[in-house]
Amino acid sequence: MINSEIGFTSEVIKDPKRFVGRNTLIEDCINALNAPHGLIAIYGKRGVGKSSLLRQIQQMALGDYILAKNSGLSHLIPSRPRKYLTVYYQCDSIIEDASSLLTRLCNDQHEEDGLLRLVPDDGKNIIEFTRSKEVHAGADLKVVNWGAKGIESTKYAKVVPEDIVQTFRNFLNAIVTHQVKKRMKRDGLLILLDEFDIIQNKAGIGSLIKSLSSSDIKFGICGIGRDITSLVKDHGSIERLLEQGSLFVKTMPPAEAYGILNKAEELFDDKMRFSDEVKNQIVRFSEGYPYFVQMLGKECVIEANRAKEKKVSDSIFDKVLEKIKCGRCFPNLESAYQRAIGNSEDRQFLLHLLADQEEEETLFNEDVGRVFLKKVRRDAEGFDIKNLDQNLPRLLESRHGPVLAKVTEKPGVYEFKNPVFRLYVRLRRF
Ligand SMILES: Nc1ncnc2c1ncn2[C@@H]1O[C@H](COP(=O)(O)OP(=O)(O)O)[C@@H](O)[C@H]1O
Ligand SMILES: [Mg+2]
Repeated sequence: MINSEIGFTSEVIKDPKRFVGRNTLIEDCINALNAPHGLIAIYGKRGVGKSSLLRQIQQMALGDYILAKNSGLSHLIPSRPRKYLTVYYQCDSIIEDASSLLTRLCNDQHEEDGLLRLVPDDGKNIIEFTRSKEVHAGADLKVVNWGAKGIESTKYAKVVPEDIVQTFRNFLNAIVTHQVKKRMKRDGLLILLDEFDIIQNKAGIGSLIKSLSSSDIKFGICGIGRDITSLVKDHGSIERLLEQGSLFVKTMPPAEAYGILNKAEELFDDKMRFSDEVKNQIVRFSEGYPYFVQMLGKECVIEANRAKEKKVSDSIFDKVLEKIKCGRCFPNLESAYQRAIGNSEDRQFLLHLLADQEEEETLFNEDVGRVFLKKVRRDAEGFDIKNLDQNLPRLLESRHGPVLAKVTEKPGVYEFKNPVFRLYVRLRRF
């Protein structure tokens, strides 16, 4: 039996050897990392590969440019690339605002990615470790023991009661002086914040980032959105910082999606193969979303194992499609599907109608993945318009997903909150 996880994963990609394509973005990352000033901002739709790119930035920030080398970009790597110590933090919806974000950062005890691990403190035991198994991989600091007395960083970095901004500044100063410069002899500290769009109240975050950024401290923020305004409200203050580092992650071109399947075969050491026809179908159904390629690929391997085959042929793939049709693959997407339709056949009909809508407007890049109410009305022949007007709002309610979100600047235009869900609905049987 072949373990499907060897070739496919639905997790964020940390290992540069598993990362496929994205050459232009990698080039932008190299430039942004090597600019002494400036902010990095990554945006794009859900499931498109933002967090994976952020993890690759982290790897390059440590001086490990294996990804760039493997992507044929060696000539773009500076002779002496800037090296950082890094912090990586994933935001969640409980973070209300800038100050609760800083509080979180100042208390995060993640042993490999947390900020607190870098604050100098006698009580804890830090070692250098490599984040990937590559020979020349960049090393960073990892806490192996927080010490019996707990954290006493107050000795080195003054905690100011009731003033989290000043406390955070003091932490950063202590890290830059003692760890970045003295101990590790790096060029700076890189603070990467993922799922930044989730923060509820973004007031003041732009000016905060601006005031903290320097040649010693660089921020990288990442989240769902079409531009910087979805991540930072007072974006005016950071626009100049963004000259180099604005990275929009689009869906993958077909050749790169195909590349994920080739990469998987390589990772399986050719003990599991896919027929060209199946590869083409997976690429087509995935519409550039690497997440869907990974999930379909994984399911094919599981099915091939069941049939005791070493090659994913059309007949194996048909079985996978059949399972998806009845909702027996991808439990998360299936439960989202059930939640969306409730017990309503009308809503189910509408959902499929929306998901299947032809994307003629894809001429305009930004309209990819959107649905147009006008067209739904046209397509909904035989479907009571009263039903449409009743059921569409349900799909905007959070208890049913929400499946759709209004595109505020254009009346009658909606978009699927999760584009991968739309791909799933298309394959699901109505
Ligand atoms: N460059 C890539 N090569 C291969 N797989 C990728 C790549 N980028 C993303 N993926 C896959 O796509 C899925 C979503 O990636 P992720 O980085 O979590 O996206 P996002 O943060 O935009 O939601 C994951 O399963 C990941 O394995
Ligand atoms: Mg992500």
